[in-house]
Amino acid sequence: MTQFKTPGWRPIMKLTQRPRRNRTTEALRQMVAETELRASQLVLPLFLVDGKDQQQAISTMPGIYRLSPDLTLKLIEKAVALGVKSFDLFPALPESKKDKYGTESLNPNGLMPTTLKMIRDKFPDVTLITDVALDPYSSDGHDGVVENGKILNDETVELLAKMSLVHARAGADIVSPSDMMDGRVGAIREALDNEGFTNTGILSYSVKYASCFYGPFREALDSAPKFGDKKTYQMDYRNTREALREIDLDVAEGADMVMVKPALSYLDVIAKVKAHTNLPVAAYNVSGEYSLIKAGHKAGIMDETRGMVETLYSIRRAGADVIFTYFALDMAQWLRDNRN
Ligand code: PBG
Repeated sequence: MTQFKTPGWRPIMKLTQRPRRNRTTEALRQMVAETELRASQLVLPLFLVDGKDQQQAISTMPGIYRLSPDLTLKLIEKAVALGVKSFDLFPALPESKKDKYGTESLNPNGLMPTTLKMIRDKFPDVTLITDVALDPYSSDGHDGVVENGKILNDETVELLAKMSLVHARAGADIVSPSDMMDGRVGAIREALDNEGFTNTGILSYSVKYASCFYGPFREALDSAPKFGDKKTYQMDYRNTREALREIDLDVAEGADMVMVKPALSYLDVIAKVKAHTNLPVAAYNVSGEYSLIKAGHKAGIMDETRGMVETLYSIRRAGADVIFTYFALDMAQWLRDNRN
């Protein structure tokens, strides 16, 4: 017993409830832990670049590279060995392949479909998700077609539905519209079904906010908007009821999964969406969230591994069933080493 005593008054501590008892040992804490996370719930985003043996660093995303298809296959092999089975593909294209209408997105021999086929051949069992939006292909750096400074909705939807078909034909399991145009999920579903792709899924970026946390991603793809911002299509960070409206529309239009993005500033939104829908809920731990932890480590503010683990568990705890994260491999390795 401690000899520690302050003079005078002392509280009478006759507690029947002492929550600390359940935190006494590591084994006990593990026994009562409420949140589980598996490597198979993680999705690794991949940045593709044309060529062979290409590994291009992204200065704002330490540890993440643009990879040519041959090196992409190697990374997937490593991921699969760690239990990460799902991948989200983004093409990084040279400016010469970009135009106003993102024409390259419909090229069946483009970087995206050819890489998809290569991965599909070598890894028939992994889940291949493709990002559907115009920004990697657009000379304006917007997710849709721009005319007179405005982003056109219905014309963009037509292109997105056709882009989805290109991805489905090349072997995508799930297409993932990240553009926030109105009505695109329904149009994509119709286009896929018309061609017999009734088993190709749609993971909709239903609730995507106009966010400053996408900065490093836009460096990765060199896809920052050439003018203005994305606020006429991506959501305002002050809104959550609008998030549920977007979810309702995407469910009605045939989405198989819905996403909230970014994750960390929107954990309340993830929780509300989870309570609102029976579809699997994904959350995107975006590039800025990743890079801030990396930078925090470098600056001596925090340990990056602990930052990663706490972040990903908190996103899961908020209700995400699936987490898109650049930490997927490191987290899978950590789970292997620490959670059995
Ligand atoms: C584009 C798209 C973006 C991201 C995924 N798809 C960027 C944007 O909307 O500007 C961001 C991902 C990240 O920051 O990690 N349609």
